[in-house]
Amino acid sequence: MGARPIPLFWRLFIPNATVLGVACVVLIVEPANGRVPALVGGLTVMVAANLLLIRRAVTPLTRLTALMRRVDPLHPGERIPLLGPSSEVTVLAEAFNDMLDRLEAERRDSGLRALSEREAERRRLAAELHDEVGQMLTAASLQTARLAARTPPDVRPDAEALRDTIDETVEQVRTIARQLRPEALDALGLVPALTNLTERVGEQTGLRFERSLARDLPELTPDGELVIYRVAQEAITNAIRHANPQTVEVVLRAERTCVTLEVRDDGRGIAGPNGNGTGIRTMRERALTVGATLDVLPQRHGGTTVRLRVDVEDL
Ligand SMILES: Nc1ncnc2c1ncn2[C@@H]1O[C@H](COP(=O)(O)OP(=O)(O)OP(=O)(O)O)[C@@H](O)[C@H]1O
Ligand SMILES: [Mg+2]
Repeated sequence: MGARPIPLFWRLFIPNATVLGVACVVLIVEPANGRVPALVGGLTVMVAANLLLIRRAVTPLTRLTALMRRVDPLHPGERIPLLGPSSEVTVLAEAFNDMLDRLEAERRDSGLRALSEREAERRRLAAELHDEVGQMLTAASLQTARLAARTPPDVRPDAEALRDTIDETVEQVRTIARQLRPEALDALGLVPALTNLTERVGEQTGLRFERSLARDLPELTPDGELVIYRVAQEAITNAIRHANPQTVEVVLRAERTCVTLEVRDDGRGIAGPNGNGTGIRTMRERALTVGATLDVLPQRHGGTTVRLRVDVEDL
């Protein structure tokens, strides 16, 4: 900060001393001599002048306190405007803003670390499920098929039913492994991965998905792509679990400096504050790691929109 701040002590003392001095001068020039109305009038003017001057000095402090109370780590970016003459309050506000910068940067870094650790763990689990459990179940299915072919006709239906159950389990293990690790994202990129996701969920649930996925996206980092994919996944899961919709729309738009994902459902709509579940909270935390913003909005004609805006310049 350039100019030396005027200490708060002087900013309070000088107006008070001025008001008292002026009152004294007035009394010397025109003594009240027991005239009550003149004394009451003078006192009222003094108190009013004092109130205005002190209020001017402490208003920035009140604003600072209000913002300090409002700061929400899940909605970063809010800062105290450094208005008015340089004073202890503006220095305090500046220090507070700097502290918020540091805290937000730290939160973003630790979020990013947690995100990559979580993703690494998911990949490991997915690989183990696919390679170990999946392989063993596939072998068991083949063995059962061979067994079914050699069993007497009266037990063959049971053996075949057992093989079908094992096949279904293999499919389920594959599905879980796929959800744990978005392979398509690694192999094909964001748009095909979102297409795969919506097609697969559409087949599983019978829901109608409408896609509008821009292909000419600005270049996103792998973290940015992963956050978009995971937010879409959770928003779709929420729509299925809570909204009972007819249609879910997934929109990916490229604007000048940002990429926007919207998942809109036409279901029963979201009621009240919605930050309590782990799903929405995790979406917000993921968004923070890449400097994106996440909004969960009720739609005007019912249903819910989840909107993620990823600033490409931040990535
Ligand atoms: N698309 C939606 N339509 C209607 N209500 C919704 C929708 N998405 C979320 N909600 C409401 O918001 C709440 C919080 O959602 P959130 O994803 O955080 O938690 P959850 O889905 O209940 O549990 P989980 O931690 O497994 O995700 C839900 O319990 C639900 O009541
Ligand atoms: Mg959820």
